Amino acid sequence: MCGIVGAIAERNVTPILLEGLRRLEYRGYDSAGVATLDAERHLNRKRAVGKVQALADLLEADPAPGRLGIAHTRWATHGVPSERNAHPHVSGADVALVHNGIIENYKELKEELIGLGYRFESETDTEVVAHLIAHHLVQEGDLLSAVQRAVARLTGAFSLGVISRHEPGRLVAARVGSPLVIGIGIGEHFIASDVFALLPVTQNFVFLEEGDVADLSRSGFTIYDRAGHLVERPRAVSAQSAGVADKGTYRHFMLKEIFEQPAVIADTLEGRISNGRVLESCFGFEAPAVLDAVQQVHIVACGTSFHAGMVARYWLEEQGVPCSVEVASEYRYRRPVIAPGTLFVSISQSGETADTLAALRSAKAAGCLSSLAICNVPESSLVRESALTLMTRAGREIGVASTKAFTTQLVALRLLAIVLGRRRGLAAEQEAALVAALEHLPRQVEEALGLNDAVEAMAQFFGEKEHALFLGRGSEYPVAMEGALKLKEISYIHAEAYAAGELKHGPLALVDANMPVVCVIPDNALVEKVISNLQEVRARGGELFLFADSGVASHFSEGTHLLQVGHVDDSIAPVVFTVPLQLLAYHVAVLKGTDVDQPRNLAKSVTVE
Ligand code: G6P
Repeated sequence: MCGIVGAIAERNVTPILLEGLRRLEYRGYDSAGVATLDAERHLNRKRAVGKVQALADLLEADPAPGRLGIAHTRWATHGVPSERNAHPHVSGADVALVHNGIIENYKELKEELIGLGYRFESETDTEVVAHLIAHHLVQEGDLLSAVQRAVARLTGAFSLGVISRHEPGRLVAARVGSPLVIGIGIGEHFIASDVFALLPVTQNFVFLEEGDVADLSRSGFTIYDRAGHLVERPRAVSAQSAGVADKGTYRHFMLKEIFEQPAVIADTLEGRISNGRVLESCFGFEAPAVLDAVQQVHIVACGTSFHAGMVARYWLEEQGVPCSVEVASEYRYRRPVIAPGTLFVSISQSGETADTLAALRSAKAAGCLSSLAICNVPESSLVRESALTLMTRAGREIGVASTKAFTTQLVALRLLAIVLGRRRGLAAEQEAALVAALEHLPRQVEEALGLNDAVEAMAQFFGEKEHALFLGRGSEYPVAMEGALKLKEISYIHAEAYAAGELKHGPLALVDANMPVVCVIPDNALVEKVISNLQEVRARGGELFLFADSGVASHFSEGTHLLQVGHVDDSIAPVVFTVPLQLLAYHVAVLKGTDVDQPRNLAKSVTVE
């Protein structure tokens, strides 16, 4: 998704901006650009379609030095990916602007601005903001006031970075619904949509809050709230290391991240279980009192994180906890009945997903008991706005298709199910058994990774296919959904997941020799049911690709492609069975030669709705 970097310093900021863009590449984008103000007060703009390297090449051939500048990676929303639509956008020679998010009322504003004589070069909503600020700048003679006036007229969710040739000592930023952070240096200041972009230049940050407009100079900054009042926002020191993520010996980040899972699952459990018990303090010091009052849980998330929530529903209901799970983009616009005692649980790798954040805010406004964020980024908006947090410790995930973030989310949700179950009669010895299964999890995931070569061989059968069907039952149904999502995200093969019991209600009509059918089969009470479902596929000439618990594999060997996943306790089976499906998607994508870590059209962090 779009990324912003901006800098005001006593040195040339172009290398800082370029490095910041490189560090935001993992979020997904289709073009990049930079604008700097040079010593003669000219705005120099360079833009390129494709990778940041294309912009870097452009700058190498024709440098654009300056002590004030803004830069951007664009993920197209309004208008195709092209140089014309890439940011920064300008209004004449006066104002340059970068923008994340969406301006909903851009059409009305555009008509008004055309009426005032402004000419538009792009198809974007962003250009409207550049002209609107330029228009107010003529009236106000002051960039900060011009931005404040313009922001007051915009609807939507956005963040902005703005510079003007009339004010070489000023960088103005605004946040309304899209994350933006100020980086504090010594005699220099920065803005970015993600702290990671700025870690080479500072560890000290101030996170802008909703409606804030910030006025940065080399020596300091001031922040004004939506009403225009001067406000102080807390300073934070980032604990993240500045090191750029490194693929090590792996060909892709995704494969590296898949193989990191035993270690990051162990990290996520570290200090949270002891002597066969989950330590409730891992949810925060106020957690025990909140958990005592929980009557039901609403889980809300997007994408892969939503699938983690779907698995958790099985686990919570097993413990007698009523639970609903929904994608955030639906939840935020429904009127969910938030009964007394509702704990709102959001799950997000990034903690910046616009719909998930909006759902959290609407649940809080509707009076939920409390909010818990299960998240991988400590400084994220979701964490800052939730009462309770349980951090996954997956480390930075670079591959757009989420892997280790998902399995660590499952571990965190398993802990939640246990602490809520404890309040509904989960006996100490039952808890100890669940905790023991969690303790075995890193080793079992390691064993599942041992299937890598066999899965790579299996992937050969998918190279020419256009569709695939994934099946699972019970808590393995969402695992099948996640397997299908992984395959479609990175190999571009159309893949759908069904609860195996639904097969005969439609998808069976699609089954023939050209439709590979993938199924995950743990050793649990539903095995016999799954056997019957798979017979239905075989009888129609469907080719079966099975991942089965070694305890039940003998039922399925004949006439199928079968890989055995060891014997796994049912309470953690969704975590272990996810691993071969991740590997399958990965190897099929490699076979097809796609951009595994940055698949087309997708973004890592979706900060627009
Ligand atoms: C994007 C990413 C997915 C991710 C989803 C939710 O679509 O490509 O990998 O699952 O957003 O992101 P979140 O950060 O909220 O987990």
